[in-house]
Amino acid sequence: MLEIKDLKVSVDQKKILKGLSLKINKGEVHALMGPNGSGKSTLSYVLSGKDNYNIDEGSISFKNENLLNMDVDERANKGLFLAFQYPMEIPGVQTSFFLRTAINAKRKFLNLPELDALEFAKSLKTISEDLSIDPEILKRDLNLNYSGGEKKKQEILQLSMLNPDLAILDETDSGLDIDALRVVADGVNKFRSSDNAFLIITHYQRLLDYVKPDFVHIIADGNIVNSGDYSLAIELEEKGYEKMANV
Ligand SMILES: Nc1ncnc2c1ncn2[C@@H]1O[C@H](COP(=O)(O)OP(=O)(O)OP(=O)(O)O)[C@@H](O)[C@H]1O
Ligand SMILES: [Mg+2]
Repeated sequence: MLEIKDLKVSVDQKKILKGLSLKINKGEVHALMGPNGSGKSTLSYVLSGKDNYNIDEGSISFKNENLLNMDVDERANKGLFLAFQYPMEIPGVQTSFFLRTAINAKRKFLNLPELDALEFAKSLKTISEDLSIDPEILKRDLNLNYSGGEKKKQEILQLSMLNPDLAILDETDSGLDIDALRVVADGVNKFRSSDNAFLIITHYQRLLDYVKPDFVHIIADGNIVNSGDYSLAIELEEKGYEKMANV
């Protein structure tokens, strides 16, 4: 699904990723943990195609194609999804309208007919109920004045509706209350299948108790310095980054 080889990335001459390699196969859930400033969000931005990141070296293939040759829209249409650490507020764009536009853009790219208003409304209702999202907030502008937790849930709603092949969740668990964390985790578990894959960036083992990852990686100073299974997350919680990073 995704293969990153020896990725070196800089921003404004500052080297951030320093030779990172990572392979994610279909059906796998990978967790990426690491201290503040280690390069986790940078990796997620580079994958989603955000501007201003210089790829100094390395390659990224997504579904056997060169991801770095694709623009942002093409990446999304081909099945890559990023749930932002800080979801953007877009005044003037109603959330439900945004979702419908995004879904139909993807369907058009895939030569599928547009979802009609009724089909869309039905699917939006079902998924927002599953995620305990108040339907009233979907009538408001995208993320505008949403609480922190509502924004994160909205990202999972987007994910569920867009049906990506690879979903990257950048600290989607941060700022969620205990019930919301469970709801988000249930949403991920429901969506998880042998056909898709996840890269879950998190600081806490808590989320991984609900969404059991197949692999856990520790990133420090722009590189993956330790990889293992779920037990690595437990060990990390006990010992802290410094002892676990082998640096
Ligand atoms: N545009 C930029 N210009 C300069 N430095 C940047 C830029 N973007 C990121 N950085 C730096 O790159 C490093 C990695 O940042 P990144 O946001 O990827 O960290 P992170 O691992 O996601 O951290 P956190 O856990 O706090 O979210 C940080 O030191 C950050 O200050
Ligand atoms: Mg980050």
